Amino acid sequence: FYKSDTMAPSTCSFLLTLSILLVTIAETVAKTNDTEFRITASVTPVPVNVGQSANLTCHLESAGKQRKTYSVYWHSPTGAEVAENCIAYNIEKHDIFCNNRDAKLATKYTVRIKTVSWKDRGLWYCKFVTNQSYAFLDVNWPATIERFTATPVGQPSRDAAAGQQAAAAAAAKAADGSAAAPYDLTLGGGLKFTCRSTCGYPAAQLKLDYRGVSVQLPDPANPNAFRVRSVSDNSTCSSDGNLLKTTESTVLLPNCSALKLDGKTRFRCAIGDSAEPAIYKDIYVYCPAIPRDYPLTQGEIAAASVGAVLGVFLIILGFVLFCQRKPAEELDESASQPMQV
Ligand SMILES: *[C@@H]1O[C@H](CO)[C@@H](O)[C@H](O)[C@H]1NC(C)=O
Ligand SMILES: *[C@@H]1O[C@H](CO)[C@@H](O)[C@H](O)[C@H]1NC(C)=O
Ligand SMILES: *[C@@H]1O[C@H](CO)[C@@H](O)[C@H](O)[C@H]1NC(C)=O
Ligand SMILES: *[C@@H]1O[C@H](CO)[C@@H](O)[C@H](O)[C@H]1NC(C)=O
Ligand SMILES: *[C@@H]1O[C@H](CO)[C@@H](O)[C@H](O)[C@H]1NC(C)=O
Repeated sequence: FYKSDTMAPSTCSFLLTLSILLVTIAETVAKTNDTEFRITASVTPVPVNVGQSANLTCHLESAGKQRKTYSVYWHSPTGAEVAENCIAYNIEKHDIFCNNRDAKLATKYTVRIKTVSWKDRGLWYCKFVTNQSYAFLDVNWPATIERFTATPVGQPSRDAAAGQQAAAAAAAKAADGSAAAPYDLTLGGGLKFTCRSTCGYPAAQLKLDYRGVSVQLPDPANPNAFRVRSVSDNSTCSSDGNLLKTTESTVLLPNCSALKLDGKTRFRCAIGDSAEPAIYKDIYVYCPAIPRDYPLTQGEIAAASVGAVLGVFLIILGFVLFCQRKPAEELDESASQPMQV
């Protein structure tokens, strides 16, 4: 197990925890003087999010005569007793449910943590006589987006007139990246986006979405995809140095043409593994209309086909109207009349 002396203390305690779990999580079968009993601890749900409730169930079977003299105790990871038989010590924090009104006849003792906190994470155990069984309460603290900001980089175009540049500078000051006041890149320059998660466990996987493109931050497969550069910096959180982490990514948009942007574009930083709509922040960017040198989108193809069908229909209609006229008019009016619909 102890591969080297450089192994972090947290790794060691994790391995120790794991070995304790492997030994005891399934069940402890104990031979006592007059009987043989089994004690098993389990937890639901796995993992549990901070703020939710969790159940820790102790299953005691075949306790026999000893059941009359001994109690079943639930202990928190700190070792503190939280319940004895069917009585919870701190009813503000915990409930207890037994599967029999008579605590001595019950076989299931379920402690419900009403609101799980980060400190509840760890090995809980139930104890009977000298035997105990462990259950690991795996607590997640989902991260959210703490901030998503953009700072201008590069220079506005030199060809722009002085007045235009002054107006652009004023607009840049007023811009806040909202839909109403997008960052204006019509005169050139770019933006450096920074997206940062709150402290969370597991560490947030960030992504940047725009126009149907989704870029994982960092993008390990292709860090230069779409000419976006990204770096990740995981700084640890002061409250729990081992597990809680923030994730920060910086993405460079050198200019609008680098991503072939035109008009208003929404950039969305989101937590990758979450479908929660609350876990994102948006920044809007305004770019100049550019000549198209890339394939049409599905929508544009659809619009173009509708247009083509309509055009053909109009031509046919023109011919129908035209052919209903007298043949004598044909030569005079053929050039100007057919499309009058
Ligand atoms: C086992 O049971 C016998 C007789 O009932 C008793 O005398 C003895 O003290 C018990 N031993 C233990 C370890 O409980
Ligand atoms: C915990 O146990 C109680 C009582 O059996 C039950 O009502 C509740 O749904 C359980 N909650 C979870 C998260 O398993
Ligand atoms: C269970 O208790 C018995 C005595 O009651 C003891 O000999 C045994 O080591 C205990 N087992 C565990 C896993 O603690
Ligand atoms: C940041 O954390 C992620 C996931 O935990 C990891 O893949 C990445 O290598 C870490 N980056 C740095 C710079 O530590
Ligand atoms: C936009 O940025 C790319 C990548 O940095 C660069 O190659 C290109 O010349 C820039 N285009 C303009 C118009 O500044």
